[in-house]
Amino acid sequence: MSKREGFSSRLGFLLISAGCAIGLGNVWRFPYIVGRYGGAAFVLVYLLFLIILGLPVMVMEFSVGRASQRSIALSFRVLEPKGSRWHLYSWFGIAGNYLLMMFYTTVAGWLLLYCVKMLRGDFVGLDSAGVGQQFQALMGQPWLMTGYMAAVVVIGMLVCSRGIRNGVEKVNKAMMLCLLLVMVVLVIRSVTLSGAAGGLEFYLKPNFHSLVYDSEGRMILGETIYAAMGQAFFTLSLGIGALAIFGSYIGKEHRLTGEAVRVALLDTFVAFMAGLIIFPACSAFGVTPDQGPSLIFVTLPNVFNAMPGGGRLWGFLFFVFMAFAALSTVIAVFENIISFAIDQWGWSRHKAVVVNFIAILVLSMPCVLGLNLWSGVQPLGAGSSIMDLEDFLISDNLLPLGSLVYLLFCVSRRGWGWDAFCREANTGEGLSFPGWARAYVTWVLPLIVLFIFGTGYWNKFVK
Ligand code: PHE
Repeated sequence: MSKREGFSSRLGFLLISAGCAIGLGNVWRFPYIVGRYGGAAFVLVYLLFLIILGLPVMVMEFSVGRASQRSIALSFRVLEPKGSRWHLYSWFGIAGNYLLMMFYTTVAGWLLLYCVKMLRGDFVGLDSAGVGQQFQALMGQPWLMTGYMAAVVVIGMLVCSRGIRNGVEKVNKAMMLCLLLVMVVLVIRSVTLSGAAGGLEFYLKPNFHSLVYDSEGRMILGETIYAAMGQAFFTLSLGIGALAIFGSYIGKEHRLTGEAVRVALLDTFVAFMAGLIIFPACSAFGVTPDQGPSLIFVTLPNVFNAMPGGGRLWGFLFFVFMAFAALSTVIAVFENIISFAIDQWGWSRHKAVVVNFIAILVLSMPCVLGLNLWSGVQPLGAGSSIMDLEDFLISDNLLPLGSLVYLLFCVSRRGWGWDAFCREANTGEGLSFPGWARAYVTWVLPLIVLFIFGTGYWNKFVK
């Protein structure tokens, strides 16, 4: 097998996998989903799913990548028994990568714009309502949004065009560390705001009633659990080969369960901190936490306004690092998309970058336009947008079902098979994949996912 470019260090691998996992899912999606589905009780269900559903799948994705030394384009083909059809999943998986980017680039663009707004002092002296209006105004400016979305695509493609070590790995390391530091400062500011207690209680003290019923007394348990499952797969980047690609760039020194635990812990830490920043701020400034995708954009500038000296610098820094968390995911997914083209069609990296640059720009437009010129398109019911549809398709469908494909591939005799999987996962030093978990991952885990999936659909579309 030809030798491919790999990471220069283990830390590089861990941080870049964490960089892929840590992104809008942690700092943007997690707070708004928690806000929508009732707070602490939802967080508990989500944590449970991370451990019992996400973690095993992550080990499997890393293993498939490392054993095949290929991206999702060829990994199944290399490992599957002759005559089987697992490789057909490659096309769904890669479609998932594009679908994710179709709205991700837009939201990442909002973060970039908010860096600029912070620096310019656009929020100085505004109250909560004023801050909210700024976001509303942005929604009505498709070309501004397109500009920032395009900037995200340009940056991501530029980094990828430089290859793994000099591009992707180097840029990621420094920024992830900065993000962690700034988050600590902001948690302190947010939890010490006057009026923070209400938000802390919402976020940390489980109220199981809100898990089962919404504010109008409608039963929403199935929907809530479905959302928690989607968020768990989303935040860990599972199901579409986005982590498998990084497994393909590492050596055999460490067992993969240990590596997966580390990545999942970092990811969970960042999401948890994001909640500790947002919810106290919501209660302190009278922002309702259930308003969906706009949540961090209408909450955070208030926190900075309330800092001594106006907090412009902190605000700027925070949005810079959040934008970076999003960019590190964009870069990771672009890398996956680019290596797909290289593996599948034998393109040069340069050609893969140019073609995908154009493709992703075009594909990102429906999301931008869906928020203004095309806002009449409401595919998931009144008030919903094209972005909601894209997010639903990927987070609540492709990621959980794709994760099942990886899982079945690893446990089934007709796929790669349990023994081969365990041999790969357990090569090296560190935590091994527990043998006793075999029955659980083979029989119970798929049933849990299918059951939640079925009830989720029933509640959403049939009831
Ligand atoms: N985990 C990423 C985030 O939290 C999103 C993602 C999902 C990336 C699936 C790749 C694959 O932002």
